[in-house]
Amino acid sequence: MTLDTFKAKMVIDKTYKISEINPRIYGSFIEQLGRAVYGGIYEPTHSTADEDGFRRDVIELVKELQVPIIRYPGGNMVSAYNWEDGIGPKELRPNRLELAWRSLETNEVGTNEFVSWAKKVNAEVMMAVNLGTRGIDAARNLVEYCNHPGGTYWSNLRRDHGFKEPHQIKVWCLGNEMDGPWQIGRKTAYEYGRLAAETAKAMKLVDPTIELVSCGSSGSGMPTFPEWEAETLDHTYEYADYISLHQYYGNRDNDTANYLASSLDMDNFIKTVIATCDYIKAKKRSKKTMYLSFDEWNVWYHSNDQDTKIEPWSVSPPLLEDIYTFEDAILVGSMLNTLLKHSDRVKMACMAQLVNVIAPIMTETGGGVWKQTIFYPYYYTSVYGRGAALHSIVDSPKYDSKDYTDVPYLDQSVIFNEENDELVIFAVNRNMENQLLVDVDIRSFEGYKLVEHVVLENENPKAVNSVEHQQVKPHTSNNSYIENGTLIAVLPKMSWNMLRLKKN
Ligand code: AHR
Repeated sequence: MTLDTFKAKMVIDKTYKISEINPRIYGSFIEQLGRAVYGGIYEPTHSTADEDGFRRDVIELVKELQVPIIRYPGGNMVSAYNWEDGIGPKELRPNRLELAWRSLETNEVGTNEFVSWAKKVNAEVMMAVNLGTRGIDAARNLVEYCNHPGGTYWSNLRRDHGFKEPHQIKVWCLGNEMDGPWQIGRKTAYEYGRLAAETAKAMKLVDPTIELVSCGSSGSGMPTFPEWEAETLDHTYEYADYISLHQYYGNRDNDTANYLASSLDMDNFIKTVIATCDYIKAKKRSKKTMYLSFDEWNVWYHSNDQDTKIEPWSVSPPLLEDIYTFEDAILVGSMLNTLLKHSDRVKMACMAQLVNVIAPIMTETGGGVWKQTIFYPYYYTSVYGRGAALHSIVDSPKYDSKDYTDVPYLDQSVIFNEENDELVIFAVNRNMENQLLVDVDIRSFEGYKLVEHVVLENENPKAVNSVEHQQVKPHTSNNSYIENGTLIAVLPKMSWNMLRLKKN
């Protein structure tokens, strides 16, 4: 193909609105796992540690990402977790065998510490309850401990522990991946649906203002998907406000063209869950719309082999420490675009996870902090992807790969921030050989000027960052321009881009 073949067209109009974007779509996740907490966010002996033992250097990077909500404490870990182990005087807290990751949990950090840390990074907490080994009582007591003002056993205990004001945690997950055979206390859809509904009922009796997430499948590849969603929602529809989706991708066959198309699978997953929710809505003659919480998404595969070599029962072992490549960052950009294009139904999402464990932020225990390749699309989309998501009409050349047909080279999302008079386009060029010239008809944005074109590109799809060296980092481009009401966007081969336009 000649260079000329690689041209695409977009039409953007401010009246083609998908939805206001819920900022919670830029959430993340910290599990008591590996070095996420100990040696990640918490390291009392570190030179930057604050009065509570939290690393200030990590706090600064999390704040840079503007993460509005953070899921805690798991993940697989929550399915055998006794939250009572993590409250009260630290010297009295038990060491426990943590079964999900076969590590030793000291419980030095628990509910109150995490809530305090979340405040420091300006995030709200999304709290998960244990529906694996426990149930209604443990969950309702935790809501009482966290959210009841005082005058009862559990709320007074919180006050005794130094937290006079309730934590006011709004979002609660009803367990984690309860369909997964690896889960401690795995359930059938019927068992989970009944338990989740009764637990939800009790939790909302304690605090009717909370929002609840019913467990969806732990991935679109699960054999029980989407029957799991249909059967569990049949029980939880009345009580839950969201259903969860989890999905991770990896370039296991070293087929980059196919890998970069994985966001099409994510798109299909979301569409199927929406259809299943709406089927239950119709079946129940309900007026309520179920929203989606994509509360685990990312790339995860680099560390799989090395994790099998880690000895069990150590404290904060280096588990799930994927070192991300440039191509991973491109896919992460497309996954964010996919979430934004579904922002009418996806109201929350969590990049899994945030620090050290399949994370955009890495630390050296006792040393520095650094940004993985995937930090960058996450950062720009979180900071500039605020406002309303717009539909755009796209005409792009396409390709076929091993698992996908008609994959558009151009992948994009469009955001109109009316308050700031800003139009932002996030665009991926999946073409590994050629740049893509995109003619963008910006008919309803008269007077808007291109203020910056940020590009993430690299000659080597496998390029990575490290504490010493940021090989993969964005730069600005001067190649794009506006001419007669059309934005000519020049997207380098295999690149992630942000084009930001502003009214004078
Ligand atoms: O994020 C890592 C793990 O992935 C989580 O603990 C679990 O929920 C999922 O399988």
